[in-house]
Amino acid sequence: MKETLEILLSRDRIAARVNELAGQISCDYRNKRPVLVCILKGAVIFLSDLMRKLMLPVEIDFMAVSSYGQATSSSGVVRILKDLDQNIGNRDVLVVEDIIDTGLTLNYLYKNILQRRPRSLKVVTLLDKPERRQVNFSPDYLGFSIPDYFVVGYGLDFNERYRHLPDICILKHSSPSLD
Ligand code: IMP
Repeated sequence: MKETLEILLSRDRIAARVNELAGQISCDYRNKRPVLVCILKGAVIFLSDLMRKLMLPVEIDFMAVSSYGQATSSSGVVRILKDLDQNIGNRDVLVVEDIIDTGLTLNYLYKNILQRRPRSLKVVTLLDKPERRQVNFSPDYLGFSIPDYFVVGYGLDFNERYRHLPDICILKHSSPSLD
């Protein structure tokens, strides 16, 4: 199978939107010191760009999750591979995610984090594919709503590849032509 890439969101468009999101978040969290919880690995580039644009004294922490394969699509249960280092009880927590697809991962994580009794809990995602949603989940802050394409770049991968691309690209698979 041949893989081709087509730019969906250029680095300039992404940078402009991240700036806007940072302005809105800085305003909403004025005089607060939120903990940004980055969901590994896809959201690392978004986190690092976003946090440098925030006019806030933030702290960061990381979680890594993996699905239980087929079971995830039915139950939405995810396995926590790396948990937070710090206690987020009574803290203002902002989860930083790369993309919401079915919504199962964030739906599970949101409930999991809520049990730790943060003072507030919000979610920012760079991308959203609302057509694919299986559970009712809406982010508090959204970069771009996109159609049902598989995208890579700016932290997003396909089998661990393409994360380094500065633009967000549509990944297409095509069979090599026989003629
Ligand atoms: P959800 O539980 O279906 O919402 O899955 C969200 C996760 O699936 C994201 O954090 C990504 O790791 C992955 N994902 C979903 N769509 C894409 C995509 O188009 N490109 C790369 N990863 C994706």
